[in-house]
Parts: sequence; structure tokens; C-alpha cells
Amino acid sequence: MRNLKQSLSRSISPITLVFLLPILLGCALIAAAQASAQAPAPDSPAIEAQAHAMLAKLTLEEKIDLLGGVDGMFTHPAPAIGLPRFKMSDASVGVRTWGPTTAYAGGVALAATWDREFARKLGESLGKDARARGVNFLLGPGVNIARSPIAGRNFEYLSEDPFLNSAVVVPFIQGVQSQGVIATAKHYALNDQEYNRHNASSDVDERTMREMYLPSFEAAVTKGHVDAVMNSYNLVNGVHATQNDFLNLKVLKGEWGFQGILMSDWDATYDSVGAANNGLDLEMPSPRFMNTKGLLPAVKDGSVKESTIDDKVLRLLRAVLRYGFLDRPQLDPADSTYSVADRAVALDGALESITLLKNDGGLLPLDPARIKTIAIIGPNAWPAVTGGGGSSEAQAFEPVSILTGIANLAGPNVRVLYSRGLPEMNDLFRNTRWDGPVKVATYPSRDFTGKPETATVSSIGDFRFERRGPRDETPRSLRYTASYKAVKAGTYLLLAASQTWGSDFKVLVDGKQLETPPHVEGQAPPFWTFDLTAGQTLNVEADYVSGFGGVRFGMGIAYEPDLVTEDARNFAAAADVVVVAAGFDGFTEGEGHDRTFALPWGQDALIEAVAAANPHTIVILTGGGGMDTRRWLAKVPALLHIWYPGQEGGTAVAEVLFGKHNPEGKLPVSFDNSWEENPSFPWYYPVKGAGASLHVTEPGREPVDYVIPHVKYGDGLLVGYRYWTTTGKHPLYPFGFGLSYTTFSFSKLEAPASAAAGTTIPVSFDVTNTGSVAGAEVAQLYVSDPSAKATRPERELKGFEKVRLAPGETKRVTIDLDARSFSYWDSSAHKWTIDPGKFVIRVGDSSENTPLSADLTLN
Ligand code: BGC
Repeated sequence: MRNLKQSLSRSISPITLVFLLPILLGCALIAAAQASAQAPAPDSPAIEAQAHAMLAKLTLEEKIDLLGGVDGMFTHPAPAIGLPRFKMSDASVGVRTWGPTTAYAGGVALAATWDREFARKLGESLGKDARARGVNFLLGPGVNIARSPIAGRNFEYLSEDPFLNSAVVVPFIQGVQSQGVIATAKHYALNDQEYNRHNASSDVDERTMREMYLPSFEAAVTKGHVDAVMNSYNLVNGVHATQNDFLNLKVLKGEWGFQGILMSDWDATYDSVGAANNGLDLEMPSPRFMNTKGLLPAVKDGSVKESTIDDKVLRLLRAVLRYGFLDRPQLDPADSTYSVADRAVALDGALESITLLKNDGGLLPLDPARIKTIAIIGPNAWPAVTGGGGSSEAQAFEPVSILTGIANLAGPNVRVLYSRGLPEMNDLFRNTRWDGPVKVATYPSRDFTGKPETATVSSIGDFRFERRGPRDETPRSLRYTASYKAVKAGTYLLLAASQTWGSDFKVLVDGKQLETPPHVEGQAPPFWTFDLTAGQTLNVEADYVSGFGGVRFGMGIAYEPDLVTEDARNFAAAADVVVVAAGFDGFTEGEGHDRTFALPWGQDALIEAVAAANPHTIVILTGGGGMDTRRWLAKVPALLHIWYPGQEGGTAVAEVLFGKHNPEGKLPVSFDNSWEENPSFPWYYPVKGAGASLHVTEPGREPVDYVIPHVKYGDGLLVGYRYWTTTGKHPLYPFGFGLSYTTFSFSKLEAPASAAAGTTIPVSFDVTNTGSVAGAEVAQLYVSDPSAKATRPERELKGFEKVRLAPGETKRVTIDLDARSFSYWDSSAHKWTIDPGKFVIRVGDSSENTPLSADLTLN
């Protein structure tokens, strides 16, 4: 069902109606015939007719012009029919493109709330923020599956589970679109890693695709009725998403009946005819391929039909009419640019998503009356880290850091000691005492050829290390050679960093290349540790190839324990309780590069040092998913994961620490002990030698050939908890897990013993708050299919309900299971199927703790 604002915008003036009546009837019949049961309802005959009338006034050239964006973030105007350009903005955690904004806990944090109502509220707020800035298209939500913890954009996506993704994405989309703003589900499809995202092919069998990677898009279209979808950069099974017949024509527009606009990701289009004929409606941000140069001759020679172009234009026109973009200004003065109400939503999101993972001895909640001194230590304590990096990065008006949030709540009687705990990266580079001068050879090429200029310097990276620099494409490669002598025995940390797109580097120690993840677009700074004896010397060489922002490379070595600042150790020892704020930020985790599984450099040492100085150490981690905690987890009593909590994160952390808010976040992804144990680990990088060659011809440019790297999704259906529960092994913290300051119990499961396959089956149970404070529990329902003909994951999430309970209170929950809850994708019949027989229904508070279970036979 479309919402009120949209249904109102479907009416049309009587004069236009009379003018259009003849075509109106025919169109309505065609649309009705095309609509499937689940597909979004077709537009009214009036809109259909007006869109056709507008189309009829356009020349072929004008129509083609509408297929490409302008000025980075707008659709193309068509003055002949009074069509202005329409404005877009990113999206996932705030309406970020047009200046400062409210920055929310979005993406994975939204999934950690497991709260459909909150998802709607967040969508509505983003919709209002968009209207306050005249934005027509919100370029979100990102609904890809978090397959691997190191994937750079997990924080913008949702979870490892298609059911959870679908459940939150539908109300989110409805919330955005209820404000008269088009939401865009992205990145369609299988953009599950940032590594080589433009070139790599995600190679997946159809069943895995249908069961794991497509359902959240399917729900966005068939239930959320999203009016735009964005194709991803990557290829799927050897074909770029923007020209992928299977994804775009067969599934999205065919089976799901998508009637909206399919746009490309920014510069994700690779072929004029291929894209035009395989479903792409809008090439963003500019028409490099879908332009008159590429498409006029194609229409002339019949390789692209004019009706195909018309269909794309009609999709835009219908959306414009459906949303009333021509009838009212998009900038709605009723919506505030700076909104106090939105700040409350941002706070709610942070509060609902913070996930308590460890609380030994009931250290939390803290009692402010018993704390005289609190030490707040770590690189993420201040300034506030609101979100990850890249196109989603929203500039918050006034973000609250963990330091200020805690200090505000603790009040004037608590002494607050703050230390960053670690040096800034540049200081590490600058302060490295190399053994003698560092030699630098600068080559006038990207491959160390040509005559180098040589120089000596005392440190590497003694420039202001900026994340982005002015565009400078001068080809340069630099070779640094230096040696480092350990003054004392112990562990040393070598850090190297470059951060301009297109740059790359490798580091050799004593002639041996150190292993780094392969990088293509920028990189999260890797580091290595060495156990050295006193006087031992390392001969270090770094080979750096500059990217598009000049030379931005730094490297340094430090005795690891010396990285931890003296004041951090002293403050930790002097305080009653210590909060260490660590994890990732927009520099170490973001779009365009994957991240490390290890915490950023020095943080393990920092946490160890603080925990050694004070047993009351609470670790707070920021990041889009799991990370390596092995070095110190057993030494700290409390651990909270706060995702990227948006601008109110500091206040929310304080409220949770002091028990003003009972933590209620639940993991939307399994947390692994190590990256190596994640099921996607063996399958993450492209298979060597598997690439076919691809030929790309951009109108007006030289053709380019390149070899497609193929990423084989050999982990298949066994993503996240599906792997853990099927193999009977255990991750560090399971999917769905999260502690509370109270306790809950589950009882009285009621489900039919047998039922007809395909009918709706109600499952009921009680959830009781058995503790002494109010709290929220997420009751999770998993279905197993032990008698299936096909091999299925041991259990799959098919329902959940967030329940808020006063102490001692019980609520009865009923979850209706539909046909899809029991189905799997039959690869030979190419359809969803239910094998009659035994199923098991399990209910509990995580994928591994399901105290209630019942057998059910489907006939
Ligand atoms: C991102 C998209 C984003 C677009 C516009 C691309 O780099 O992949 O998610 O919407 O930029 O900023």
C-alpha cells in the first residue's frame, strides 16, 4: 500500500484528464496485466497517461539526455516539458551531501536495534531531513549482506541475515517515502567487499543468491515498494551489475515487478548498449555511456529499441508525478534543517543499538555516587566518531563524544581524566629514530622506471598526513630504504599508511615482502609486529606508487609498549574505573577499501596496558562488525560494541554505562575470534588465474581491456551463524547475542504439531523479565528443516519480536510463519519450494541459545 502523501499526489487536474483519456484506458490494461500479486501497485491511469503525454513531446535526443545525471547529484532536466533537475543525497546515516546534518546510528547499528518501529522512525526523520534540503532522492538504504567482517562498507549495510535485513529495511523505506522522498535500495547486487569493487566478479550459484543475497532487495521492492534501486560497481557471474540481464530484467523488473528507476552507482556503467538493453534506467553521475553518442546510432541500427529508451524515461516521469515533484516545492519549510526532534531520534538509535557483550561481576551499570574519578582513554574517546568513511560520511552539527557524554552525565562531582592514550599517526612517523638517514628515490613513473631523483630524509611521512589531497595525477613511484635498530628487546610495531585513491605500496623487511591484503583503492593502514633482541637491526624498504593526490605515504616503527602514553597509564592507575574507547573510524573503515580484522595499530597494547593498571576497565569498541579482541578480552571485565553511533553516541554510551538506559542491542552479525575462522575467509579474494578478459568501449575514448578477477562464493549459504550452527562450532559471540542489566526467560511455546505446507502458521510463547529493572529483549525464532531433500543450513532466522518489559512482567508473543519461512530455492526447478516433513521451531535470545523448541510436520 502506498502512503497517504503518495496517494494524494496521484490525482491529476481535470483538464489534463480530458486531454489524455484516449491513451489512458489502454495503458491501464497493460499495467494491470503486468502487475504480479506481490509487485508494487501500478500507477493510476491518470499518472500513466500524463507520463505518456510528456514523453510524446520529447525528441529522441531529449529522451536520451534524461538517462544520465548532471552536476554529480542531479537528474537531467527537460525544459521542453517543464521538467527541472531532481536532487539527490547520500544517505545511510544522514542526509549528508548538502552541508551539516543530523548524523544517526544507521546501517549496521539500525540492524542491531532489531526494531522495526525504530527503522520507520529513522526513515521518516531522514525523509524530513531530505525535504528540508530539497532532496528528491535519498541514496539509501544499503541492504547488502555483511558476509565478511573486513568488508569496508558493512557499517553502511545491515546484517548477515536476509530476514533481519528485510524486516528493518521495509519500514525504513516506507518511512523515507512517506515524506515524499524517493528511497534507493543499494548496491544491487553482491557488493559484499570493497576490494577491487569496480572489477571483481561475485560468482555465486543461483540458490545462494536467492536465499542470501537477493531477499533484502526483494523485500525492498515487493514490500517496501522502494522507487529507486542502485546497481553496484561489481560484476555478478562475469557481467557488470549495470548490464546484468539476470539481475535487472529477469529478477528485479520481471519477477519482482519493480516499476521505479534503476540507477547506476557512481561511474559503475561500462557499456552503452549493454546497459540500455539490460535494465539500467539512469547512469550516474553523468552519461559516459548512456548518451546520444552511444545510443543514437544504436537506436538507428536497431540494437537498442526506442521503446526501451521510452520505458526508462517513463519510469522517471511516473515517479516524478507519483511524488508530486511538479506540484509542490521539494524544499518543505515545515521541516527543520536543524531539528531537535531528529536529535532525539539519533539518540534513540544509539541507545537501542549499543550492544553489551561482556559484564563480569556486574561491573556495569556504574553507580555515579561511588565513583570519584573516571579515566576516559583512547583514540575514539574524543573527538566523536559518528560514522565510517566514504560517501555516507555525514557531518554532524554537534556530535557528542564519549568523553563529553560521560562527563556531562557524571556531573561536577566526578573527576574526569582524559588521554588519547596513543600518539597521532604522524607523530609516530615523525618520531621514529631510524638508524641513519632514510634514502628516497623518486621515479617519474608508476613502475620504478626512469631516472630517479635521490634524496635523504630523517623521517618518512613528515608532511601533514591528510586523508584527501588536491588531485595530482603526476606519475610517481618512490622507494624508501632505511634501517632501524632496536634499543631494547621486545615487541616492535611497524606502521605504514597511504591514503590517496589509486595509490599502492609494499614493504620489505630484510629483503622479504611483508604480507598485506591486496589493495586497489586506498587502504586501511596495515601494521606488523616483530619480536626483536636488543641491538637487532631491521633493513626496511617501502615501494610506494602515488595515486591521485600527490605523495601521501608514511612509515614508522616504535617499541610497542612505548606507544602507550605515560598519562594514559597514570590516569588508569589513579581512577576508580576506566573507559577505553577504541576501534575504527572514518579513516580506518570506509568506502573504497576493506579494513583490517585487527584493531588499528597500538590499540591492543593500549587496552592491555590500561587493564594491567586498573581491573575496572570497560572497553568500548566502534566499528561495523567484529574485530580481533584475543590479546586482551580475558583481562577486561566489560565490553560494549557501539557500531557507529551517530552524533548522540557519547550521550548514549554514558546513559548505558550509568544504567540510565538498559542496553538492548543484539548482534546483527556473528563476532568471530579471528578473520581466518570466518567462513568467507578462504573465498574472499579472487581465484588466481580464473579471469576472463573484458572489453570496455566508452564513447569518445580508447577501448580498455582488462582481466576480470573472480571471487567465488564457495562459502555458499553458510554465511555467519548459518556456518556456526551447521558446523557445531562456536564464534566468539553469536548472532543475536547481547546482554542486559536484567534477565529474561522464555516459556509456553505453542505451535501446531502439523499443518498444511504453504499455510500461515502461528507460533506463540511467553517472554518474562525475571530481573529487577525494566529492559528490552529480542525474541528470535529459528526454523530448521532436518528432512529437506536439499542440504540446508542447520537453522535460519524466520521471525523476531522486540519486547519491552517491566520487572516481573510477562508478554505473550505470536509470530506468524508464512510459506517462505519453510522454503528453500530449488535450483533445478528455479523456484521456492517446501519439502513436506519435519521442521523444528526454536525460540531464544540468540542463534545459539534457543531454550524453546517444538517439532512441526508440514503435509
Ligand atoms: C557510492 C554510493 C553513493 C554514490 C554517491 C558511490 O561512491 O558507492 O553508495 O551513493 O557514491 O555518493
